Amino acid sequence: MSDRKKPLGFKSIETKHEEERVSLIQGLHNLDRRSFLKVSAAALGAAAGLGVTPHSFQPVNVAWAQAGPGGAVKREQFRFAYISDSHLYERSLNDRFLNALMRAVDDVNAMDPQPDFVFFGGDLAQLGRAKELETGAAILKNVKAPLKVMVGEHDWYFDMGEKWKSLFGAPQYSFDNKGVHCVVLNSVVEKDFWTERKLTPEQRMGTVAGLDNGVQSPFSVGDEGRRWLEDDLKGRGADTPLIVFSHSPLYKLYRNWNFWTDDAEQVQAILRRFNNVTVFHGHTHQLLTNRIGNINFHGFLSTAWPWPYAPQGLPEMTIQMGRPDPFNPHDGCGNGSATVYPDALVDKVYNLWNRNPVTITRKYMTTKGQADKPVVPTLRSY
Ligand SMILES: [Fe+2]
Ligand SMILES: [Fe+2]
Repeated sequence: MSDRKKPLGFKSIETKHEEERVSLIQGLHNLDRRSFLKVSAAALGAAAGLGVTPHSFQPVNVAWAQAGPGGAVKREQFRFAYISDSHLYERSLNDRFLNALMRAVDDVNAMDPQPDFVFFGGDLAQLGRAKELETGAAILKNVKAPLKVMVGEHDWYFDMGEKWKSLFGAPQYSFDNKGVHCVVLNSVVEKDFWTERKLTPEQRMGTVAGLDNGVQSPFSVGDEGRRWLEDDLKGRGADTPLIVFSHSPLYKLYRNWNFWTDDAEQVQAILRRFNNVTVFHGHTHQLLTNRIGNINFHGFLSTAWPWPYAPQGLPEMTIQMGRPDPFNPHDGCGNGSATVYPDALVDKVYNLWNRNPVTITRKYMTTKGQADKPVVPTLRSY
């Protein structure tokens, strides 16, 4: 047989990838329990075929730090990737956000070398529905590196976290990676505004999803969450390098949009005795940088849409992106990565899909913005 006839039986890697993508999307269509399991099995099979070890969605409480000679923890820099705020609707309503999440999964799977882990920053679903969360879980299952997942308010307030917990486990947990202690918080705890008003689950979720309605209570880590955090940090010295993940920013930015954590000062007080703390948060869907005392704060980009900046309270260290082009659905969106140094200071990369990436370096943070100022994006502002 001549080579010319060969393409009939030959599939390029791009064709195979495209076929897998199409079958995944088809499998996600009208996802019910049975087809979800089928799609998950297919994804696992595809991962195994690529020599990738599939991992479970159970909470990761495993210590990743490696012990060196004499039992000392080996500290070395590492990188993790992040994806956040995908806000998935059911596919029959909207598949743009679904495609954006798959694009982010492709991005982090293409990283070479692979990151130590991939962190999902919350708001996987838009309205907390089981199908939205199952669809998100099926897509995230294709991430090659170990995956850690954090909860956002859009994942929680339809069934008070039942479905999310069944997929991902406890909403607060901690783990260690190369000597850095990483803590994942549930910072979207709200006071009960629904019982007295006799709200249905749909109404409760809809109220939380509308950030500026003035009915819901502000987010908090809450008494129980703060006790858990204190317990988790008990016995750890001031030199413990500490990374904290929270969905809402752990400071007070703009209350009307719930860009706010009501007990932020109390959480910051728990973290104050540590030399270096870096907090990563989702929820705000934009480039956002802050430093309060010993704590550096970095926001994550969203894969779904960028929020405009709040009308007041923007932290001074923020490198602002121009207002994204409303006619370009990917502008202002993206994912990214962080290089974590042994002291828990980080170089944070915003991988903006339609703009140049922006890196906020550890030097920029420690010099309070005097050195290493990133180039401000100069694209047109809309
Ligand atoms: Fe969000
Ligand atoms: Fe959120």
